[in-house]
Amino acid sequence: MTFRDQFSRFAHFYDFIIKNPIEDILELIDPQKNDIILDLGGGTGQVAKHLVKYAKETVIVDPSVSMIEKANKKSTKIKTTLGVAEKIPYPDNYFDKVLIYDALHHMQEPITGLKEAIRVLKPDGKLIIGEIDPRSIGGKLLLLFEKVFYIYGTYYSPFELTKILKEMNWRITNYRKTSPITYLGTFSNHK
Ligand SMILES: C[S@@+](CC[C@H](N)C(=O)[O-])C[C@H]1O[C@@H](n2cnc3c(N)ncnc32)[C@H](O)[C@@H]1O
Repeated sequence: MTFRDQFSRFAHFYDFIIKNPIEDILELIDPQKNDIILDLGGGTGQVAKHLVKYAKETVIVDPSVSMIEKANKKSTKIKTTLGVAEKIPYPDNYFDKVLIYDALHHMQEPITGLKEAIRVLKPDGKLIIGEIDPRSIGGKLLLLFEKVFYIYGTYYSPFELTKILKEMNWRITNYRKTSPITYLGTFSNHK
């Protein structure tokens, strides 16, 4: 799998422009002291810097050198690995929780990325996904903006994402809209 580092050019000013809905994200992750958590496509560590306060181990896997450098500067407790979601360099059943926030649509092969996230999750693990809803007006504008900057992506509505994960035997357990254009959902494969 070749790395596509589309984000290093934005790393310098990323945190000034992008502000994640951190309270919603943390509430849905619900980090516990024994948790091993993967922030897949975790970028500059906006979420991971909070996770390290609660979890036993916080890992970022991301293909962008400069985004990861920013994460390393935020906390030495964040374990960063240069890599792609489509081939996560961790063994099966390793993580208690996997977060994919604003990153799924940037993956070259998002379905492979989802399968990999499920592979590295423990059987009773939790998958938390935050995405842009391509049906919203703001989502459509953002999509256009990203295309202008040659950032290509595959955007799934909450219904499409739920259907894809249902076919992998993962069901939605929590859902909320975090802004007019973004949504956050949690998924699990236990009854
Ligand atoms: C919009 S940023 C989001 C960063 C972080 N999740 C956040 O919310 O602050 C998207 C991130 O996805 C990463 N990314 C792109 N393709 C990826 C892939 N195939 N696997 C994992 N991460 C990827 C980018 O390098 C970038 O850091």
